[in-house]
Amino acid sequence: MSVYIIHGGNRVRGRVAVHGAKNSALPILAAAAVCGDSVIENCPRLTDISVAMEILGHLGCRARREGDAILTTQGGPGDCRIPDELMGAMRSSIVFLGGMVARHGCAELTLPGGCELGARPIDLHLFALSQMGADITEAGGRLYCSAPRGLHGARINLSFPSVGATENTIIAAATARGETVLTGAAREPEILDLIDFLRGCGASIDMALDGTIRVEGVERLHGVRHRVIPDRIAAGTYLCAAAMTGGELLAQDVVPGHISSCLSLLEGAGCRVETGPDWVRLTAPERLEAFGTVKTMPYPGFPTDMQSVMMAAATVARGTTLFVENIFESRYRHVPELRKLGASIVTEGRAAVVTGVERLTGASLVSTDLRGGAAVVLGALAAEGESVVAGLDHIDRGYDDLEGNLRRLGADIKRDG
Ligand code: UD1
Repeated sequence: MSVYIIHGGNRVRGRVAVHGAKNSALPILAAAAVCGDSVIENCPRLTDISVAMEILGHLGCRARREGDAILTTQGGPGDCRIPDELMGAMRSSIVFLGGMVARHGCAELTLPGGCELGARPIDLHLFALSQMGADITEAGGRLYCSAPRGLHGARINLSFPSVGATENTIIAAATARGETVLTGAAREPEILDLIDFLRGCGASIDMALDGTIRVEGVERLHGVRHRVIPDRIAAGTYLCAAAMTGGELLAQDVVPGHISSCLSLLEGAGCRVETGPDWVRLTAPERLEAFGTVKTMPYPGFPTDMQSVMMAAATVARGTTLFVENIFESRYRHVPELRKLGASIVTEGRAAVVTGVERLTGASLVSTDLRGGAAVVLGALAAEGESVVAGLDHIDRGYDDLEGNLRRLGADIKRDG
């Protein structure tokens, strides 16, 4: 099992080109199951993306990589089932459900895997599909969905703006009979990217200013060449690495507007932040000031995926930061790891109080989940002495060449084994 060996204390400085967004590429690949042959550019090299390509193969849509692009080609009829090991490999495999029912009129799956962040129900995904005419039963940990006469449009209101349920509904509605009106939908940039892709394939989708999404189903979708948006969480991770090590970073291939909640916190903590159309330059102070209060919220609020990474930065800031995790109930699994480095963090339910310390000290650490793993790496970069980080399979799900990028930015990090 490979580990990172990190000698902390170096400033993170230089230039990094941010890879394409995992959370865009995955639903777009799922949508490709119901579209014509497509070229999806700027797809990061991640294990989650490889799993998605394999799933597509089972559904009758071949996916192969050429450089940073994934080419999808419609092949045979495919299957109504995603093999259990692929379902277990990532939570996002549930985003294939809508496309499967739309394409095959049926789907059989086990409940999805992925990061353990407390209860991650899929009731909203199932509610939306049932409103569109799918018949859904659950037995022995398996889900059976069928719509032998196809899906139809519906008026659907999501009681929480779930990213995955919004994506599944849009994909299913794109070729359903009639109009779907979706209220209470998520508005993350990755949702807009999915809509852009589907529109490019001939789908009729509009989002009103109040966030209502209208989809007029079309009979068939053709293919398109589409470029995935930059990964805002990867961008935020590199910026936090520079911010907490007194560094200086030019992050390229970024949409600054997608990370404005994160940039304003970093500015408030004493960083100088300049932005251009597709770049952000951050110059960190010698020591960060605490962030005040950081509450995770649906977009455009502060993203839950950045909570752990921002917390790593807060561990060495001057003063106290309060975190409130509003999206997932159990997203503090990185806290015991950061404490091993000497961080002062107290948690109580959804709240975590971080009192910045002057120095962290290297330790033997475990990456507990994807974003928690990134936080642990950042903690180790700022700590004095050597740290060993295990559990890299989590990090490889979401960061394309994290160690290579950090090394080029001056960090002393290597993968062993
Ligand atoms: C997506 C992202 C993930 C990110 C999360 C929040 C992808 C592939 N994944 O995950 O990286 O951390 O958004 O931005 O884009 N919920 C329900 N019922 C449902 C679905 C969700 O109660 O049917 C709840 C969840 O338990 C959670 C909240 O809604 O509390 C947010 O979940 P959701 O937005 O669906 O997150 P994911 O799509 O799983």
